[in-house]
Amino acid sequence: MDSGKFPGSFAWGASTAAYQIEGGWDADGKGPNVWDTFTHQGGDRVLKNQTGDVACGSYTLWEEDLKCIKQLGLTHYRFSFSWSRLLPDGTTGFINQKGVDYYNKLIDSLLEMGVTPLVTLYHFDLPQAVEDQGGWLSEKTVDIFKQYAQFCYTTFGDRVKHWITINEPYYAARLSYESGIFAPGKKLKGIGGYRAAHNMIKAHAKAWHVYNTFFKDKQQGRVSIALDSDWAEPLDPNSLADKEATERYMFFRLHWFANPIFIDGDYPAIMKSIVSQKSKEEGLTSSRLPEFTEEEKAMIKGTADFFCLNYYTTRKVKPLDTTACEPHSNSDTGAEGITEPNWPISGVEWLAVVPWGLRRLLAHIKHSFGNPEIFITENGFAQADPPALQDVHRWGYYQETLMEVLKAIKLDGVNVKGYFAWSLLDNFEWNSGYSVRFGLFHVDFAQANLPRTPYYSANEYAKVVKGNELIYK
Ligand code: NOJ
Repeated sequence: MDSGKFPGSFAWGASTAAYQIEGGWDADGKGPNVWDTFTHQGGDRVLKNQTGDVACGSYTLWEEDLKCIKQLGLTHYRFSFSWSRLLPDGTTGFINQKGVDYYNKLIDSLLEMGVTPLVTLYHFDLPQAVEDQGGWLSEKTVDIFKQYAQFCYTTFGDRVKHWITINEPYYAARLSYESGIFAPGKKLKGIGGYRAAHNMIKAHAKAWHVYNTFFKDKQQGRVSIALDSDWAEPLDPNSLADKEATERYMFFRLHWFANPIFIDGDYPAIMKSIVSQKSKEEGLTSSRLPEFTEEEKAMIKGTADFFCLNYYTTRKVKPLDTTACEPHSNSDTGAEGITEPNWPISGVEWLAVVPWGLRRLLAHIKHSFGNPEIFITENGFAQADPPALQDVHRWGYYQETLMEVLKAIKLDGVNVKGYFAWSLLDNFEWNSGYSVRFGLFHVDFAQANLPRTPYYSANEYAKVVKGNELIYK
């Protein structure tokens, strides 16, 4: 197969997230979030101590973003709400009308342009006031999130029909509450990631139920969660140890979240038994992996109306020697993912270019989770600074990846409904600051008006979108 049409009404999009593009960190009554606090503490938490204070300036320059969307001819745009811009202390006790106005303008303008919005409620930027009450480590956040979701459905749900509750809970939980490299920087090894994830899953499920019970009939929209995953294969396909390590790799990543939500309301059995056994060996009286009650399992099961996947790369896997390791979700997994020497690396070292991994991952999702409708809500390639406007390598990545999506649809019968490039714009790439550029549009951060310029890949992507077709040369 060397070219082909995508199915009719395929969703063509690009994605962004509030903290990474908006700036206006304290504009018009916005409350601080954990990334504001974290970056303002300095201390090299982020490369060159950069912050999202200004970022792409999308809080004021949103019309420039709309021009980019138009130039690409997108049918869909995925962005996130800044929770503390809408609710400065995270609760509905005080609503920031200016924040509501901002998202109303954005949503209305997208709809006028014929672009469908896909809104993420939470993309790593927890309101600081919610963190101060324990953040995702606290059960209280489950209901605070539910109320925030309910507020968003009430305020914007007449026009927004695609909701994503939480972006990448795997990273949001582990990097924020286990390794501490993400805001709020909590380092609770072997415990924090599991506890945060546990509350995120419950928060997601409650937010889904609120929609299902009170809004779905009237608003006719849908709710999901964006799960990230690598594809993984055994380093030596003939080694049983490598095969088992690969299974653990997938269970402690994608299935950690997807099993409860798409299968049976609970964590994978293998995950429960490994963490419980290790906890016993450590002399603990209960497992470091929290348990769901039967009532919670019933509440969590089946709480996604479609599958949102963020895919970037693939790993070859072998067992990790954990004998001298302290308790950590990595040592619980007991698997090490490595890249093959012949895989090209993008502008960030973790992103090896392995487009075929996506096709295999899509087939795995089809078979594991009952052939759901899948939206690829993120996929992209980074350039290191200084980036080339003629980003031929990036376009190569997109082309090859889209070809794999097409094969997944046409040859494997995977129900892929849409594809969103990460990202519309170069933006604040978390710990890497502005040095890693994922945009289809270049942003000149040195100029006050933050001009956007299309990369070569933007022009090429626009052709694919327009024809709903990949012509692979
Ligand atoms: C996933 C995250 O959702 C996004 O915020 C990030 O910028 C990209 N991956 C690239 O690392």
